[in-house]
Amino acid sequence: MEEVRKRAEELRSLLNYHNYRYYVLDSPEISDSEYDKLFRELKDLEQKYPELITPDSPTRRVGAPPLKEFGIVRHRLPLLSLDNAFSYEELLAWRKRVVGILKKEEFDLVCELKMDGVAVALIYEGGLLTRGATRGDGWEGEDITQNLRTVRSIPLSVKDGSSFEVRGEVFLPREGFKKLNEEREREGLPGFANPRNAAAGSLRQLDPGVTAHRFLDIYTYALGWSERETPPPDHFSALALLESRGFKINPYNILCSSIEEVEKFHQRWKEERKNLPYETDGIVVKVNRFDFQDALGSTGHEPRWSIAYKFPSKEAVTRLLDIGINVGRTGNLNPYAILEPVSVGGVVIGSAGLHNEDYIRAKDIKIGDRVAVHRAGEVIPEVIGPIVSERRGGEREFAMPQTCPVCGAKVVRLPGEAMHRCTNAACPAQALERVKHFVSRGGMDIEGMGEKLCAHLLREGLIKNASDIYFLSKEDLLNLERMGEKSVQNLLLSVEESKGRPFQKVIFALGIPQVGEETAEILAHEFENMDELALAAPEELSLIPTIGPKVAGEIVSFFRNEGNLKLIQKLKEAKVKLSQEERRITLPLEGKEFVFSGELSFPRKEAEEKVKAQGGRVGSSLTSRTTYLVQGKSPGSKLRRAQEEDITIIDEQEFLRLSG
Ligand code: IVH
Repeated sequence: MEEVRKRAEELRSLLNYHNYRYYVLDSPEISDSEYDKLFRELKDLEQKYPELITPDSPTRRVGAPPLKEFGIVRHRLPLLSLDNAFSYEELLAWRKRVVGILKKEEFDLVCELKMDGVAVALIYEGGLLTRGATRGDGWEGEDITQNLRTVRSIPLSVKDGSSFEVRGEVFLPREGFKKLNEEREREGLPGFANPRNAAAGSLRQLDPGVTAHRFLDIYTYALGWSERETPPPDHFSALALLESRGFKINPYNILCSSIEEVEKFHQRWKEERKNLPYETDGIVVKVNRFDFQDALGSTGHEPRWSIAYKFPSKEAVTRLLDIGINVGRTGNLNPYAILEPVSVGGVVIGSAGLHNEDYIRAKDIKIGDRVAVHRAGEVIPEVIGPIVSERRGGEREFAMPQTCPVCGAKVVRLPGEAMHRCTNAACPAQALERVKHFVSRGGMDIEGMGEKLCAHLLREGLIKNASDIYFLSKEDLLNLERMGEKSVQNLLLSVEESKGRPFQKVIFALGIPQVGEETAEILAHEFENMDELALAAPEELSLIPTIGPKVAGEIVSFFRNEGNLKLIQKLKEAKVKLSQEERRITLPLEGKEFVFSGELSFPRKEAEEKVKAQGGRVGSSLTSRTTYLVQGKSPGSKLRRAQEEDITIIDEQEFLRLSG
């Protein structure tokens, strides 16, 4: 029994160590399967001898039963929040106040990244994690111990058996956030607006089993109270102490001796934070020495010895004035947010796509709402969600129109589809989008054919669809407003030039629903010319990898449409190239020369024919052009020479494989 107890202890300490290597240091020493093996061994032992289970056993992270509600924890020392600085001037003003109180010009400052997550306090008693809580109102928080135990980078025990409180920020790395939202989307649940909300939501799960699957992580940033003879003299040493106890400390923390260095740190991370695997919203600056911190004290909710120096916000709040509809190329009704213009990171946003009706419902967006907006991937304007608490009662639910806002035709939503569609193929909005798509960069790339000109030509009746572009005359164009001799000439030149675009570009330009640039390329590869493609049966199309039945169906119905066939006929008349380039077929052994030495199990002549049939050559002696020496039974001197010359030597079997 003593031996079993010792083994269990050994396993626990091994597993805790490897857990630390993996989750805290991010540098594992053993493979996942080796870890799992040790884990299973411990689990089995504990199952057989439950008396061996300790509270810090790595098997005890997950498995606590769900709660009915969270208990309340009163913090021994309040968890303060931070005052903000939004500019270097405000940072300097903060420093001036500090200098005024300390009566000192020189003092060290610690700079840390400001993690965008949820503040928590962890209490260790006699070295064991006994309690974990949210910040709450600063004085009282919620007891989320069971959930925090599932965060793998939080140690369940520390070696020196001390009692103390540590504070930190629990966050969800971008990758985990992405995965979580994808999973929720698959399950038809609304996604979280940002990683912070997702982290908060995950920590407030009553079932710790759910929290355990959320990839949460922590950076600890402060020692709270501590029962220790000599507490560290300053914040930076306190962080080092925490690190030595196995806590995860952000590796980018630095100690600065001047405010200019602080500014440099801020400048650096303002740019580089986008490369971090987690979100940050600023830096936190802290006076290093604890005696200085004490002298500075706090103003109610915020310490005077620290300040959050924020990064320019990439998010803003504005009003959703209305929801507009764009009719797309295939008749899809694309709703978009009409926003009260607002600056986000220096760029004014006035509208943002809203995808479809379900998306608007899932996000609970109402017309008149105050909404949070940002630029997804730092580019595309996106509505994150409404600020529900700011509703005043006058907000309106959005409903898709029953008729097309452009042509008035009936709107339908087909079963299984997210989009509403205008049923009128002749809808002017669709016609414009189709022409725009046809002339776009990825399509026929006709320079000088901007949106305005396309719309103008359609309005004037000079074109009805894209193929008419090829029959425009110089006079037609010269009669248009703002078209001079020179621009007409240039335009006609680019129209002419576009006739020779590669087949795949023409396929893409047609605007077949579901056929993007990639699929167009595949189709161009599979079919000699447009007529062949137009005649392809759905079964034939479905045989092509990456083309599913849905896409196949779209292609077939596109080529069954009378109007589309007419358009293609006109492209043909205009001499637009509707076929593949002449493709020279390369044979597998082209450019390869074989020399034989020794006897094969079949006539040499046969071997030579095989090489020629596959495009290769046969040589009689080794030269610099020889690719392979084929070694048969009792080879001659060629073999030795080939070895000396570093020519690849293959045997009969390998030869047969190469020559098919
Ligand atoms: S120190 C008294 N350090 O920011 C100082 N806070 O806006 C207490 N935060 O509630 C906080 N990263 O949740 C500190 N490196 C960091 C931080 C950090 C993120 C959060 C924390 C705090 C909030 C205040």
